[in-house]
Formats: sequence, structure tokens, C-alpha cells
Amino acid sequence: MKKPVTVGVLGCGYWGPLLVRSLRGLPHCRLKAVCDPDIARVKHICALYSDLEGVTAPQRLITACDLDAVVIATPVKSHYPLAKASLLAGKHTFIEKPMATSSQECEELIDIAERKGLVLMVDHTFLYSAPVRKIVEIVQAGDLGDIRYINSRRLNLGLFQKDINVAWDLAPHDISIILHILGEFPVAVNCQGNAHVTPQVEDVTNMSLLFPHKRFATIQSSWLEPRKIREMTIVGSRRMIVYDDLRTREKIRIYDVRVERPPHYDTFAEFQYSYHYGDSYIPHLQQEEPLTLACRHFIDCIETNSAPMTSGRQGLELIRVLEGASASLQMKGAPFIFGSPNGPALAPVPIGNGSARSRKPKRTRRGPSRARNGVATLFENA
Ligand SMILES: NC(=O)c1ccc[n+]([C@@H]2O[C@H](COP(=O)([O-])OP(=O)(O)OC[C@H]3O[C@@H](n4cnc5c(N)ncnc54)[C@H](O)[C@@H]3O)[C@@H](O)[C@H]2O)c1
Repeated sequence: MKKPVTVGVLGCGYWGPLLVRSLRGLPHCRLKAVCDPDIARVKHICALYSDLEGVTAPQRLITACDLDAVVIATPVKSHYPLAKASLLAGKHTFIEKPMATSSQECEELIDIAERKGLVLMVDHTFLYSAPVRKIVEIVQAGDLGDIRYINSRRLNLGLFQKDINVAWDLAPHDISIILHILGEFPVAVNCQGNAHVTPQVEDVTNMSLLFPHKRFATIQSSWLEPRKIREMTIVGSRRMIVYDDLRTREKIRIYDVRVERPPHYDTFAEFQYSYHYGDSYIPHLQQEEPLTLACRHFIDCIETNSAPMTSGRQGLELIRVLEGASASLQMKGAPFIFGSPNGPALAPVPIGNGSARSRKPKRTRRGPSRARNGVATLFENA
């Protein structure tokens, strides 16, 4: 009999307990310990699962609980120091989205994991969900034709975060799905937004990603909407998909609709757009909890020594997009061009990025980094 992978979870707030539940249900995994600096959260989880060891010091969980792997579900600014400590202690590491607060931090984590031969996985949960897997299957089979654009809306009232803005909180889901569907990295990003409730923490953002071949994606994120909306439309040259994640059944519907221009016409009178209205259909989806699939994938990757579908590299790509979006926000929505020698010479970081604050500041065209009211500015330098 194979020895189960022993795991500990850091962070027992909202998301940590869901990971605890998922990990406990896996056959080749033994969840041994949980940690949270808040003793009440540790007691709560240990009361639910009496076989778990509960600790309040992260370093204790990482080094003293005889674990193979560590799962990190803590506030974003703590991802990097905790993941670094975990990897340096030789533990396979699973980090919640978004992976870290800067691409520099992600690169360092990837480097340590590669040097030590450890699995580093980022929880881009939606890529493990049945609707997204079905959409990717349909797109890859060519059923939609050429993808023209993707439009995504993730809106509701709250939950307000203090250390990251709404783009860093909600848009990682959309960005991970969009990058996965399109299979390429954007050439530019624009982002506009406003902070209405907490000063300097945008609670509404509109982001557009421009991809090669004139494809683009728009992402609207808000903590200030009266209705909860989780909707994505994928418009192809032959068919279109509407994905509504709030529906309990029938989450995706494929529309056989398109519009075509006549390839050739001699007079304006001959010019007619041709609209095609075909059937719409709802594919069957296997109902499996995405978080459980993500956790199972992590354990499988450890057992087979393979790279996860959402590895540190995918985590890094997503952070690069968010950094570009933060740079654009700072420039009032002007495009941030990725990899351009003429792009902003500033390394953008999200609001409230404590770890970036602690690094040595570099002078830039816009002057030195600074903090207002204890909150780092968007363009503080890494
Ligand atoms: N994949 C998803 O769909 C999804 C959904 C929600 C949250 N998340 C992610 O999960 C992470 C946690 O979010 P949350 O909503 O549970 O936050 P939360 O604030 O509810 O919980 C965070 C917990 O971490 C604890 N904590 C803080 N610093 C710690 C440390 N150094 N070591 C151990 N524990 C520490 C806090 O005491 C708190 O109990 C975030 O990265 C968030 O983006 C992912």
C-alpha cells in the first residue's frame, strides 16, 4: 500500500475550511494539521475534525508536523513568505490565487520549487470546473470558429478586502479562464476603476486585454453591485457560448448564431449581411466540485512527480496581467504594453502590498515610491 501524502493547511478563515473538507475526502491524502494565528479559528476546525493537530505558528506547521505538503489559504500578502518557507523546508506547496503580490515573488518561488524538485501549484479553481473544461473542449475542437472576443462580469455586493483591490480579488478567476481558453498571453491591458468605499482600494474595475490577431477580452469586477453576477460570453465566428456560473444546472448554453458579410458585391443594393439563427443547446456537465478536483490534482502531481495544470508558471502569468492592470489603473486607463521597451519603467504592485514596501525602493521616472495613510501607492517600486 502506498503511503498517503501528508498535508497541512495554513489559514482557517473563509476558504481554508473548504480546502480542509476537500483534502479530507481524498483517498491518497492524509490531512494532519491546520494553522491560523487566530486561535478561535484553529479551535473551530479542530472541534469539527478531532484527529487534526492545530497550531497557531505557521513555522511550526511547516517544520514540526512531519508533512509532505503545505496548502496556503491566507491573505495574499502572506502567500510569498509562507510559500517560500514551505518550499525551503522541502514541502510541496499549493497556493491560493492570486499566487503572490508581484511577478518577482512568483519567479523566486518557481525557482526554489524547480531547484528542489517540488510541486508548486496555484489554485486557479475554475480551470478544474466542469463548465470551463467543457468550454475549453468545445473551443479546442474548433466548434466556435475563431474566437472574436470574450466578455466577463463578476459582480456583487462585497466582500470588501482591505489589502487588495477588486481586480486582484475577483479578476484572477476571469483572467485564468480567458488565458486558458485563448492559450496565449495578451499584448496589452487597459484598466480603469474607482475606490468608492475604502480610500485607494478600487472596488470597481473594468479591464480589457488585447491579444494577438485583434482578439480581446473585457473583465468587469465589482464589490458594489446590487445583484450577484458571474457571467462570461465567448463569441466565435461560427458559434457563441454563454456561461452563467450561478445557474445550478445548465451553466453553459451554446448558440448556433453568426453574422456574415457577403464576400463580394458590385452595388450597394446587393450588399446584405447574412444572419444565421440556428438552435441553441445545453451540453451535459459532470457535476464535480472543482476545489476537490484541484486538490486531487495536487496530490496526483506529488505522487507522479508531474507538473500541475496550474503550476507556478500559470500563477506568474496571471500576476503579470494584474501588474499590467495596476499600471494601467495608475495611468488612468492608458494601455500597459507587455514587454515593450517603451512601456512604463515602473514595476506595479497591488495596493497594500506590505512585502513590496519592505523591499528597497528604486527611483523611477515618476519619482520615489511612497505610502499614504499607511497604504502603499499602486506604483510603489519592487
Ligand atoms: N479559489 C477561490 O475561489 C478562492 C475563494 C476565496 C478565497 N480565495 C483565496 O484564499 C485566500 C484566503 O482567503 P479567505 O477569504 O479565506 O480570507 P480570510 O481572511 O477569511 O482568511 C484568512 C485566514 O488566514 C489567517 N492568517 C493570516 N495570516 C496567516 C499566516 N501567516 N499563517 C496562517 N494563517 C494566517 C487569518 O487569521 C484568517 O483566518 C486568499 O488568497 C483568497 O484570494 C480563493
